[in-house]
Amino acid sequence: MILVTGGTGLVGSHLLYELVKNDQKVRAIYRNEEKLHTVKKVFSYFTEDVSTLFNTIEWIKADILDIPVLTEVFKDITHVYHCAALISFDPKDYHKLRKTNIEGTANIVNLCLANTIEKLCYVSSIATLGNPEDNSLIDEETFWNPEADNNVYSITKYGAEMEVWRGTQEGLDAVIVNPGIIIGAGCWKSGSGLLFKKVYSEFPYYVTGTTGYVDVRDVVASMLQLMQSNIINQRFVIVAKNLSFKLFTEIAAKYLKVKAPQKRASSLMLEMAWRADWLKSFLTGKPRSLTKQNAVTALSVIDYSNQKISKALDFHFIPMEKSIEMVTALFLKEQ
Ligand SMILES: NC(=O)c1ccc[n+]([C@@H]2O[C@H](COP(=O)([O-])OP(=O)(O)OC[C@H]3O[C@@H](n4cnc5c(N)ncnc54)[C@H](OP(=O)(O)O)[C@@H]3O)[C@@H](O)[C@H]2O)c1
Repeated sequence: MILVTGGTGLVGSHLLYELVKNDQKVRAIYRNEEKLHTVKKVFSYFTEDVSTLFNTIEWIKADILDIPVLTEVFKDITHVYHCAALISFDPKDYHKLRKTNIEGTANIVNLCLANTIEKLCYVSSIATLGNPEDNSLIDEETFWNPEADNNVYSITKYGAEMEVWRGTQEGLDAVIVNPGIIIGAGCWKSGSGLLFKKVYSEFPYYVTGTTGYVDVRDVVASMLQLMQSNIINQRFVIVAKNLSFKLFTEIAAKYLKVKAPQKRASSLMLEMAWRADWLKSFLTGKPRSLTKQNAVTALSVIDYSNQKISKALDFHFIPMEKSIEMVTALFLKEQ
């Protein structure tokens, strides 16, 4: 039986759909009943018969920090997809991030070892890769620089990867995927969902940096194929296309039928904006929406190579414009 963590999130819900569509026996954990509606909504994008597929999943209420409950969850499990994580760039969330991402992953790895799990797939991020000195493409060998001004999310996703590698040293077979910004529908209040909301609101500013993007269906397809392959103990960058933030927002604006951002946010503006955001958060206690590290990323040209996964699995990515077209159509339907 397969175990999926983070099944109520963007990646997990799309993964669950692919697994149950292919008649796999699946157990998934959740924390909040309300979030199960997200899973049904995601299923409804792909099938008319949501209930039949959804009801084949064995759901258990569990937190990845709750070892006694997780111990029960792992009974009869052979394969694990670990998608659960906390995504936040707010330095105030550092301790929560460490708990969920590092300690939570350590718990999953330890239970995989204790239950002699055949293979683990861990969803990491391009955030755990370093930045090259020159302008070369970033790949799986571009190592993390602990001395850099890394954001709190990256630090904890890197720590989580270390837990997975520690597990492999202790005998666990695992694969790690490192996706770029994941484009998918259904979770509009987080991740790329927020980007589409921002573009839809006709936010007037664009930034000049670049990063890697990928369709959630490609993230899931690569995870499934890696788990079925005999590849073990390797990581793979999962990026379909490197795009400037400007071009991404222009394509999204075209399909959302709104005005694309026209004004370039200069480095001085971003410097002022993250400081103002810090002050606002300090005075009101509200979460940060722009940190110093986010401001630097927004102006950095960071491009990724997808050569390793393309060659290993003969993997072909969905063109990014097609992904944006599909996701924006679903976004508009739900407004
Ligand atoms: N979204 C992106 O652009 C992106 C890019 C690169 C990598 N990733 C990585 O991809 C993975 C999936 O991301 P996503 O976009 O699907 O995130 P998401 O939509 O925010 O979903 C996160 C999932 O983790 C679960 N979770 C969080 N803390 C938990 C805990 N303590 N115990 C049990 N479950 C917990 C959440 O459950 P609740 O529903 O109960 O909150 C939710 O199911 C993450 O590892 C993320 O770091 C995401």
